[in-house]
Amino acid sequence: MKTHGTGFTEVYAHSNAFPYDLSVNINPLGPTNKLQILRKFISCYPGNSYAKLIAALCKLHIVNPKQIALGAGLDGLLHDFILCFLKPGEHFLMPEVTFQNPCFSAALAGGIVKKIPMNNDLSVDFEALSASLVGKESIIFLCHPNNPTGLLEDLTKIKQLLKATKALVIIDEANIEYTSGPSCLSLLSQFSNLVVMRSFSKAYGLAGMRIGYSLACEHIHSKLHNSRPPFNVSGIASEMAIQALEDQKHLADSLKFVKKENQYLSEALKGLNYQVIPSDSNTLLVRLPLEKQMSVKEFIQNLNALNCHVVHGAYFNLPEGFFRIAPRSRDINENFINALKHITLQQQHVKRFSSII
Ligand SMILES: Cc1ncc(COP(=O)(O)O)c(C=O)c1O
Repeated sequence: MKTHGTGFTEVYAHSNAFPYDLSVNINPLGPTNKLQILRKFISCYPGNSYAKLIAALCKLHIVNPKQIALGAGLDGLLHDFILCFLKPGEHFLMPEVTFQNPCFSAALAGGIVKKIPMNNDLSVDFEALSASLVGKESIIFLCHPNNPTGLLEDLTKIKQLLKATKALVIIDEANIEYTSGPSCLSLLSQFSNLVVMRSFSKAYGLAGMRIGYSLACEHIHSKLHNSRPPFNVSGIASEMAIQALEDQKHLADSLKFVKKENQYLSEALKGLNYQVIPSDSNTLLVRLPLEKQMSVKEFIQNLNALNCHVVHGAYFNLPEGFFRIAPRSRDINENFINALKHITLQQQHVKRFSSII
């Protein structure tokens, strides 16, 4: 798609020179002075090629620029892919217990969402997935690691799946940085139907900026680019992603921090008789103690009354009894554990009282 303007931020953002560019329709005074530091990025369109960020990502993943596409968060990118590649009546396959957001886009595209039941240990059932390949599928969606289980998929099985289908296999690696891998990126050069998606929202801490990217072969991305408008990522988001990639120490510190807090949460939860499902990632899937005579809905209402929040397992199609958490800072995590203790005490009190009357 042809666009106007000089690609202002890409060319001029890191110098004091300004082009005499009357082609762009933007506020000559710019925004409020309170945002001085971000001025250049706010009042101008981003360069449509996002060259600096793409170059940084190419260096990180050793791919060429056309193998990368940016989007408004992994969510935004997934939406764009689904609207581009899923036609009415075609099948969108995904495990039953996983991140549910793409269902909305698949339904909007007129696709038929087929949710594949899990193995008993909540891992993806690749045999059932293969059995669902009937030639009508155009997208297969998997999270690696899965959310909410935090489990990494088996790369050999993903490889077999890629061989067995012509459909696009989208691997959502939003949380891959928290794991010890391996990433599906190693399969990229072998399969032209593989799309790996990454997010800046998680380990890089930019959730509010809405920026993510996909890695796939050129012809997939050129089809995608022809189906969506330009400037789909803001200049500020792109600049912040560049800064985030440059600060690898902050990334390493964040991963270390999250690991420590996960250990703290897991041990504290187990100490209170909650079952913590083993996770390769930062998210923890937790089961209420069997002796708790409380539904997850009631449990969450009690938690909310104490200003604590978790995700109900039902969001991920899990049976009754599960909720999911992701670690925060130690004071917030401690507050959460104290809330659980409070709820347990309250319950013991009610039980004792009801056995007296
Ligand atoms: C597995 C998974 N994919 C995608 C997303 C959304 O990522 P983004 O913020 O980049 O849209 C999330 C966020 O919760 C997630 O857990």
